[in-house]
Amino acid sequence: MSASFDDSLLALDQQLIQLVYRSRSLIEGPEYDALLATCLRNNPGRGITGVLVNHSGWFLQVLEGTAASVNALFKIIEADPRHSEFLLLRLTAIPSRDFSDWSMASITVDKRRFLELANHALHAEDEAMSVIRDFLCYGKWRDSKG
Ligand SMILES: Cc1cc2nc3c(=O)[nH]c(=O)nc-3n(C[C@H](O)[C@H](O)[C@H](O)COP(=O)(O)O)c2cc1C
Repeated sequence: MSASFDDSLLALDQQLIQLVYRSRSLIEGPEYDALLATCLRNNPGRGITGVLVNHSGWFLQVLEGTAASVNALFKIIEADPRHSEFLLLRLTAIPSRDFSDWSMASITVDKRRFLELANHALHAEDEAMSVIRDFLCYGKWRDSKG
């Protein structure tokens, strides 16, 4: 009984989760390229996928992976001095990844879309993630607003 309770709690480590946060960037061009290179180098080994969305000095990052790996990376990223104003918007269990093909995609969006994505993430509207994924796949936004 107690062994299976412990097993169940330990099994949570392997649950697939998605984490979304917003932060203010303290870096520019070449430093951003170096940061992205770090993501692409490290994330496959950690089993992390996701997207880093930029708008005029703001980041919105989606991290996907097992609860154990996302938690471990999240602690590292939160302490990174290259950004501030860190705000966790969403942490949820997911049945499958939205960004399975991307170790860390990178996109730049306008102000309206950045705010919309952040709000959708905060209000747990899954639509936001599939809209970003469609943009990565097809190069255009699904709606006509921008
Ligand atoms: C906005 C932001 C997003 C980041 N995303 C990732 C990431 O997806 N994967 C990663 O390994 N490091 C990421 N980092 C960097 C980590 O904070 C840390 O510097 C890095 O993991 C250290 O890697 P290293 O030990 O290979 O140098 C991010 C940092 C910032 C500021």
